[in-house]
Amino acid sequence: MNQNKGLVYVTRKLHFNAAHKLYNPNWSEEKNGEVFGKCANTNWHGHNFDLFVTVKGIPNPETGFVIDLKKLKTLVEEKIITKIDHRNINMDVDFMEGKMASIENLAMAIWDELDPHISTGQLHCIKIYETPRQYVEYFGK
Ligand code: NI
Repeated sequence: MNQNKGLVYVTRKLHFNAAHKLYNPNWSEEKNGEVFGKCANTNWHGHNFDLFVTVKGIPNPETGFVIDLKKLKTLVEEKIITKIDHRNINMDVDFMEGKMASIENLAMAIWDELDPHISTGQLHCIKIYETPRQYVEYFGK
């Protein structure tokens, strides 16, 4: 039915608020300030993050879906949003333990959390907006 057709990419957008700081404990205060600026602020700062989870695949002929977006939403809420929303990324989020709390590392960690649970289609991209002007995308290994 779907032969000779390309893949379709479907995305669910979710939102969370969280605090973090960028601070390397192996460096001096001066070096942290130099590299991270305001992001190294000792008493944290927050962002309104937008998370985009994209799954690729061929639509199932019976449903027309690559993946049921309701199920994808529930999965991301359960595995990611409940753990990170209104939390401190450096201190409260198990899958960020021991990592620098950058959105680069966050995108990679979210990929690792979600990928084993995507049973229809294939995880294609984790995109995170930290500010309206700043975002990262991760496409897996
Ligand atoms: Ni920040």
